[in-house]
Amino acid sequence: LLAPAVPQDLAGVRVVVSAGPTREYLDPVRFISNPSSGKMGFAVAQEAQSRGAEVTLVTGPVTLPDPAGVRVVRIETALEMKAAVDEAAQTAGIVVMTAAIADYRAATPASEKQAKVAGDVSIHLTPNPDILAGLGAEQPHHPERVLVGFAMETHAGVERAALKAQRKNADFILLNYPTREGTAFGGDDNQVTLVRPDATFEDWPRISKREVARKLLDEAVSIRRSKSF
Ligand code: CTP
Ligand code: CA
Repeated sequence: LLAPAVPQDLAGVRVVVSAGPTREYLDPVRFISNPSSGKMGFAVAQEAQSRGAEVTLVTGPVTLPDPAGVRVVRIETALEMKAAVDEAAQTAGIVVMTAAIADYRAATPASEKQAKVAGDVSIHLTPNPDILAGLGAEQPHHPERVLVGFAMETHAGVERAALKAQRKNADFILLNYPTREGTAFGGDDNQVTLVRPDATFEDWPRISKREVARKLLDEAVSIRRSKSF
């Protein structure tokens, strides 16, 4: 028996997906990071590949295997992620930023392992570049490119996500809340709200990350069509 045909509505479209955490090294053996599993981004990459896209997946350290048919670029730091995403995004039709990029890195990482000292220590952190905002600023040169972000908020989610979409010039942001059980970090399901820059929004039910990926790409395809008129 043949599996039902998947619509090839992304045939010929380059899709760039970022996934996972970044690691910001303090010294050669210590880093700042977060528990992002990468599952959401890998699901988007697989879904896009199955619909005919040429997919580049830029991922921080996660335990997931390379999805079949996807070009996978494994990086560690936010600066490495920015270099890889920026390069792939030049020719992309859709960019989906699911990565949990560390907002800061050590201003002067030590080149040798630091021994402990008596008493408190403080670490001087400096902001990482905002990869999505950087792409957003280049959108006038990419009239048909669709930019999608993710955000987790503990309060005032829709307002904050709409402001982020405006500031970063993203077409929409999928918002979730850390309190939604079984979702977000590490889970197989996700419950998100689609938020547009004009603060209109759609609550999606709790569904698998693959199903979120499907709906996300449906929305991106429809925005691409509207941009190409
Ligand atoms: N993002 C990015 N580069 C960064 C930080 C975030 O591209 N340095 C992207 C994320 O991948 C995500 C979106 O921006 O798609 C929103 O991330 P979030 O952390 O919510 O945004 P911030 O601007 O960092 O806001 P906050 O101060 O709430 O952390
Ligand atoms: Ca952040």
